[in-house]
Amino acid sequence: MSRVEVALGARSYPVLIETGLLEQASEVLAPFAGKGKLVVISDEIVWALQGGRLGLHAEPILLPPGEGSKSWAGLEALVDLLLARGVERGDHLVAFGGGVVGDLVGFAASILKRGCGLIQIPTTLLAQVDSSVGGKTGINTAAGKNLVGAFHQPAMVLIDPACLDTLPLRQLRAGYAEVVKYGLLGDAGFFAWCETNGEQLIAGDREAREHAIQVSVAAKAAIVAEDERETSGRRALLNLGHTFAHALEAETGFSDALLHGEAVALGMALAFRFSAERGLCPAEDADRVAAHLDAIGLPTRLDTIPASGETLVAHMRHDKKASGGRLPFILAHGIGEAVVDKGVDLTDVAALLDRQRG
Ligand code: GLY
Repeated sequence: MSRVEVALGARSYPVLIETGLLEQASEVLAPFAGKGKLVVISDEIVWALQGGRLGLHAEPILLPPGEGSKSWAGLEALVDLLLARGVERGDHLVAFGGGVVGDLVGFAASILKRGCGLIQIPTTLLAQVDSSVGGKTGINTAAGKNLVGAFHQPAMVLIDPACLDTLPLRQLRAGYAEVVKYGLLGDAGFFAWCETNGEQLIAGDREAREHAIQVSVAAKAAIVAEDERETSGRRALLNLGHTFAHALEAETGFSDALLHGEAVALGMALAFRFSAERGLCPAEDADRVAAHLDAIGLPTRLDTIPASGETLVAHMRHDKKASGGRLPFILAHGIGEAVVDKGVDLTDVAALLDRQRG
C-alpha cells in the first residue's frame, strides 16, 4: 500500500492508495468508527457499480448522479438528511464517488454542526488525483461554478484504483489530463513516463495506474502543504490550462460536449503554444505536449469549438481575478517548468486563439 502524507500540522492526513482498498475500508476506518458514526454518501451509479465492494456496513445516502446535486438545493436536502440522522461533530461523512459527491459532501461536512469529520473515497481518476486531496469543497450557483464553498480537509483519503475498472473510457481519459498536468507543471521525468506508459494506463494496466496516482497525489500533497489556501501562488500552478478550459467549458455550456478534463487537455496544449509563441518555452515542448494528449485521444485543437478568440476571451473577462483587461495565467518555460504570469493581456490571448483556429 502506498501512503502519501498531506503535511498540514494538526490537520495532516494520509492518502492511502491500493488496489482492493475498498474491501478493507472497515478495517482502515476502524479508528474513526470507534469515535463516532460513519455516514456514507454516494451517487446511485457509483453505488450500483462499486457499493458492494465497500466493506462498510452502513445504509448509504444516495444522491442522483450528475452535477445537479452540487447546488444549494442539493446541499439543503443533504444537510437535512444528515441532521435527521443525528450527525454530530465527532462523526465522519464518507464521500464515496466522483468530484460532485466529494465537493458537495465536503462542503456539507464543513458546515454541519460548524464542521464535522470527512473521509474521501474518490472513485473517478479526476477525483483520485485532484479533487479529493487538498480540501477544496463547494457547490455551483447561478453565478457560476464553485463560487460558494470552503476549505475543509479530510481526515483520510482512500484511493482504490480498481474503481477505475468500471469508469467509462471517456471519463478515464478526461481524468488522465489532470495526471499529465503534474508532469507538465513540475516534473519533466513524470511527463516522459506518461509518454511511455499513458496508453497502457488507459488500457487498464494496474501498476501504471497505481504509479500515476501515487506520483500525482504526492505532487498535489507537496503543493497543498506549501500553499493550502492558494495565497503564495504555488497552488495556483495546479490551474495550468484551467483559464482556457473554463472559457471553453462556458462556451459549450458546461455540457457533455466538452468534459472538464477534456477542456483542461486542450487548455494545457494552448498554454504551451502560447508560452512558445511568447518565446518562453521551446516550440518542441509545445509539440510534445499536444502529441501526447492526441495519442491518448484528448482534444488539443480548437476545430470543434466554433467561437472566435474574442468570444472565448469574453468569458475570461468575467473572471474575478481579471483587472484592466489582464488576467493571471499559468505559462511554462518548458515541460515541468510552469510559472505564474501575473498579468497577461487578454487581447494577446484572443489573437492566439484566432491563430490556433487558423
Ligand atoms: N484543483 C485545484 C486545486 O485543488 O487547487
